[in-house]
Amino acid sequence: NLDARVDSLLSRMTLEEKVGQMMQLELGMATDAEPFPQPINSEKLRRIVQDYHVGSILNVVNAAFTTEHWHEVLTAVQDEARQTRLGIPVLYGIDAVHGANYTQEAVLFPQNQGLAATWNVALAEESGVITARDVRASGIPWNFSPVLDVGRDPRWPRLYETFGEDAHLTSAMGLALQRGMQGTDLSDPAHVAAAAKHFIGYSGSESGRDRTPARISNIELREQYLRPFQDAVDAGVASIMVNSGEVNGVPVHASRYLLTEVLREELGFDGVVVTDWLDIKKLVSLHEVAPNERQATKMAIEAGIDMSMVPSDVSFFEHLVALVEDGEVTEARIDASVRRILRLKFALGLFEDPLPGLDLADEVGNERDRRVALQAAQESVTLLRNTDALLPLSPDQNVLVTGPTAHSMQSLNNGWTYTWQGGGRAQELFHDGRPTLMEAMREHAGADQVQYVPGATLTAPDQLREAVAAATESDVAVVAVGEGAYAETAGNLPHSLMLPVAQRRLIREIAATGTPVVLVMIQGRPRTLGDAHEEAQAMVTAYNPGTEGGQALADVLYGTVNPSGHLPYTYPSRPTGYALYDHKPSERLSADFADSGAEPLFPFGHGESYTTFAYRDLQVDTPEAALDSLNAGHTVDVRVTVENTGSRTGQDVVQLYLRDEVASVTPAARKLKRFTKVELAPGASETLTFTLRAEDFRLIGRSGTPVLEPGAFRLQVDTLEAPFSVTEQVPVTP
Ligand code: IFM
Repeated sequence: NLDARVDSLLSRMTLEEKVGQMMQLELGMATDAEPFPQPINSEKLRRIVQDYHVGSILNVVNAAFTTEHWHEVLTAVQDEARQTRLGIPVLYGIDAVHGANYTQEAVLFPQNQGLAATWNVALAEESGVITARDVRASGIPWNFSPVLDVGRDPRWPRLYETFGEDAHLTSAMGLALQRGMQGTDLSDPAHVAAAAKHFIGYSGSESGRDRTPARISNIELREQYLRPFQDAVDAGVASIMVNSGEVNGVPVHASRYLLTEVLREELGFDGVVVTDWLDIKKLVSLHEVAPNERQATKMAIEAGIDMSMVPSDVSFFEHLVALVEDGEVTEARIDASVRRILRLKFALGLFEDPLPGLDLADEVGNERDRRVALQAAQESVTLLRNTDALLPLSPDQNVLVTGPTAHSMQSLNNGWTYTWQGGGRAQELFHDGRPTLMEAMREHAGADQVQYVPGATLTAPDQLREAVAAATESDVAVVAVGEGAYAETAGNLPHSLMLPVAQRRLIREIAATGTPVVLVMIQGRPRTLGDAHEEAQAMVTAYNPGTEGGQALADVLYGTVNPSGHLPYTYPSRPTGYALYDHKPSERLSADFADSGAEPLFPFGHGESYTTFAYRDLQVDTPEAALDSLNAGHTVDVRVTVENTGSRTGQDVVQLYLRDEVASVTPAARKLKRFTKVELAPGASETLTFTLRAEDFRLIGRSGTPVLEPGAFRLQVDTLEAPFSVTEQVPVTP
C-alpha cells in the first residue's frame, strides 16, 4: 500500500533528503549552456542530485532537441538519482498545454479557448488522452495543465489558455482534459499527473496585465473562480500550481488563507502544491512582502506550498534546511509536504521505472491523433456572421487571401509552442507538412483560384496596394487578421484590445473595392475591431486552432465542414466598458444601453451554422419545488426539443441558462447551467433532458457561503423561457 511505502521511506530520510524533494530545478542546473542542445555536465548533475537531493526537474525537453539527446539527458539524471542512498527517482514536469509541444511529430490541439469553443467534452477528454501519452512518450509523467483560471478579462494575455469566461464551461472542459490526462490509474504509463493552475484569482487582475494585483471579493472568488478547482479536486487532480499574483493585497504564495484554509481545508485537497516560476523569490523582489529570501521561504511554507519551482539555484534548499535547524519551521511540516510528493512518485510508478512510457514514442503523431486534432480544430471554428450566405465559398470562385495570419503557423499555435518549449522556433518546427490557412485554401480550390498577398504584417502595411489591386479582381476576399504568439507577460504589450490600425486599415481598403469580405480572426483573445467589422459580410473566429488549424479553417470556409463552434466568451464591441454575459442587473443590456459600449459585438455562446436550428417545447417537470426537498436531493428535469430546419447536417450546442429573478446578492443576468452538443440531419429533431440539482439554484450569499433562496427563477434555452419557483414550504397538493 502506498501510504506504508511512503512512511517507510520517509522514516529513513535525513532532513536534507526531505527538503531536496521539495525543490524543483530547471534542466540548465545540470547542463552546460553551450553548445546547443545543451549537454549534461556530470559535475553539475552530481551536485544537484547527490548533494542537494533534487526532487523534480522541469523543462527537460524542448522541441529543438533531438530524441537521442533528450533520452540521454533524462536517463543520465535518473541514473544519477538511482545511485543516491535511497534511490528516489526525479519527477519531471512540462507545460504541454495544447498537446506535446516538445516534438515536431506530435499533433497540437486548439489552445484551451478553442477547445472550449467546441463545447465538445468528449473531444477535450480525447485531447487529454493523446497529450498524456505523448508526454509520457518522452519520459515525463507530470503535465502543468489544465489551466482552470476563468477568463473574465479578455485583456489578460493568458486568455487563450483559459476555457473562456464561464465557470461552468471551464469546469466541464477542465475536468474532461484532466480525466483524459490522468485516466483512472496514474501508474498506467500512458497517463500523467495533471496540475490544475493557477490557484487562484490569477486571471482577475484589475489592470488586465499579467501578474498584477487582483481585488476579488469573497463572494466573487467563490462565484467565479473557485468552482473549477473544487471540481478538479473532487475528481482527484494530482497537483495544483499557485497563482503568481496577489489577491486583495496578499501574494497567493504567501496566503495561508488561500492555500491552507481554502485549498486544503475547504476544498479538501491533499495532493502536491507547487509554486510557479521563481515565486518564492518574488515575494521579496516583486511583491515586497518579505525582507529576504529566508523569510519568503518561511512565509510560503507557512502558507502551504509543498514544492518550490526555484528553479535556477539551490537557495530554497539552503534556507529551508536552516529554518528547520533553527526551529522556525518544524520537521513535521516538512514531512507533510514530502509525504505528498513521495506519494505522487509512488502513484506514478516511478520507483518501479523512472522513465515509463518511452516505448510509446512510435505512437506519437499517428494518423488517428491527427484526425482528432483536426476534428477539434474544425469544431472550434466559430461562424459569427454570414450575411447573404457568403460562406461557404465555392472552389470556382477567384479568392484573394490576405492579412498577417493567413500564412502564419505562429498564430495557429500561439504560446508554449512558438515560445517556451518550442524554443521560439515553431514556425520552422511545426510548419513541416501542416498547411497554413492560405496553403489549405489552395489545397481546396487550387493555387490558380487562390491568390495570396500579405497586405499587412501584424502592425504595419505590407504590399497593401498589391492586396487592394488583387481584391478588385477577385470574387471574394478572405482577410485573416489577429495576433502572433506570446506567452505570459510577453502578451501585456500592446495593452489594448483594439486590433492594430494597420490590420483595420487592410480590412477597410479591401472592402472599399466592393469585393465581399470574409473576415477571419486567428488570435489569443477577442481583439476589438472598431467599426471595421461592419465591412465584413462574413466573420469567422478560429482562436488558436493548433497544427491542424489551417486545414480546419479552409474546410469550414469551403463548406466541407459545417461550422459548430460557439463563443466561450463575450466578443466585446469596445476595448473597455463591456459587460460579460452574466453581468449584474445594473448593467442591463437594453437598447438604451447600446450606445454605452456594454452591448457585445457577439454574445457568449453565439455561433452560426450553414444549416438552421429551431427550438420548441421547453418544459420543466414540475413548476416548483420546496427548498427542503431540493436540499435533500430532489432533482428537476428540464426538457427541450431542437430541430434541424435547414438543408444540411449540422451540430448545435444546446445551452441551458438559469436566471434568478430576485436574490439577496445581486443576481447574474443569466448563468449557464448545462450544455450538450447534438448532431442532426436535415428535418431531424431531438428532445434533450437536463437534470438540475439544488446546487444549480444556489448562489454565494452575503455570508460568503452557498445558499438556496426561495423565489422565482427562469430557465432559458435559445429564445425560450420557462418559469420555476423554489418555495419555502412543500406545496400542498389538493
Ligand atoms: O506552468 C508554467 C506556468 O503556467 C507559468 N510559469 C511557468 C510555469 C512552468 O513552466
